[in-house]
Amino acid sequence: MVDKVVLAYSGGLDTSVIIRWLMDNLRCQVITLTIDLGNQPKLEEIRARALEIGAAKALVVDARELFVRHFVWPALRAGAVYEGQYPLATALGRPLIAKLLVDAAREEGATAVAHGCTGKGNDQVRFDLSVGALAPDLRVIAPVREWELKTREEEIAYAQRHGIPVPVTRESPYSTDENLWGRSIESGVLEDAWQEPPEDVYLWTRPVTDTPAAAAQVEIEFREGVPVALDGQELESLALIDRLNRLAGEHGVGRIDHLENRLVGIKSREIYEAPAATVLLQAHRALEQMTLSKDQVRLKERVAQEYADLIYNGLWFTAHHQDLAAYVASTQRHVTGTVRLRLHRGAATVVGRRSPESLYDKSLATYETGDVFDQKAAVGFIYVWGLPVRVQAQAQLLKHPDGLLGLTEPQREPAR
Ligand code: ARG
Repeated sequence: MVDKVVLAYSGGLDTSVIIRWLMDNLRCQVITLTIDLGNQPKLEEIRARALEIGAAKALVVDARELFVRHFVWPALRAGAVYEGQYPLATALGRPLIAKLLVDAAREEGATAVAHGCTGKGNDQVRFDLSVGALAPDLRVIAPVREWELKTREEEIAYAQRHGIPVPVTRESPYSTDENLWGRSIESGVLEDAWQEPPEDVYLWTRPVTDTPAAAAQVEIEFREGVPVALDGQELESLALIDRLNRLAGEHGVGRIDHLENRLVGIKSREIYEAPAATVLLQAHRALEQMTLSKDQVRLKERVAQEYADLIYNGLWFTAHHQDLAAYVASTQRHVTGTVRLRLHRGAATVVGRRSPESLYDKSLATYETGDVFDQKAAVGFIYVWGLPVRVQAQAQLLKHPDGLLGLTEPQREPAR
């Protein structure tokens, strides 16, 4: 028995229909919760629609600061990019939405929470796991997994039968999700993996044919792995991300076409737009190359992949995450400095970096005057480094000299 449920409500068709479906099928009160993660929802309009459909209460929360501080910056510091392409905007938003759903359920005395995810995607997993970790006693209801409304048309018909106002804005032919770290776009013609995404998929980035002929330069200053200033001007996190989204988007930077591996085993073609994320991840990496040792860079790259998988797979609220986060935080204590990038025709290119914590030493690297590296010392180093190579060559490899060069030669004659 559920008598009160808190629904994560975006104001779109699915979640609008869900309000009514929950009321009719569970005979319970529905409290909607609409969360701003930088997706610029029309909060007042959405609130009013929820109440009009029959919600007992409509809550709205501006969670942008929380999102950046506790999710976006940690992911940036970790270098978390799923399968080398996706900066994880949607995936990062889910655990925070789950947390706020749980908070609201506690506040309102609800015994269940609900979301509008389908049974084929990653987002249901992220919500269900996060709620399960934070509040194992709460029931999670996902009507789209249960109901019989198979198509959009059936949903619209249901809405009309029940007097649910169908959102008036002409709905895009795609399924999209958006927050300040990026946009995710899928379905429609994008399901044809061979087909180039039509231009109407993109809202934040210009096509390269329409970007300024002149390149832009931008300097990004980081303090312990967190971006704090653009072009020498200190900015609040939200303003910094917003400005970079606009600037990089203007130059066509941040379009991603990813054929990704969903957790539920399906390969899916997703388009992402993430101008600020693309630039910041690239700049951050460049600064790490200057301020971390070779060993630190090597291990951190592996941790970044693990961290990205963990976010993608809905495992935010786990001890494994706490462990990795502690490692990442430790690696960032010297990642302070400034990176200069050029933005031009869809590409962001690092063109300079400097840091008060730099490990790059020009007097060691230089081929010009001022060289302090003792080249004679290299002989001893190579003698020791090469010792096992020479021993093995003499003991084994040189006894079969043909094999030394022919090792990788493919077999031409088919074996009979
Ligand atoms: N595939 C992405 C993820 O799992 C985005 C999912 C939401 N995308 C969407 N178009 N509704 O994080």
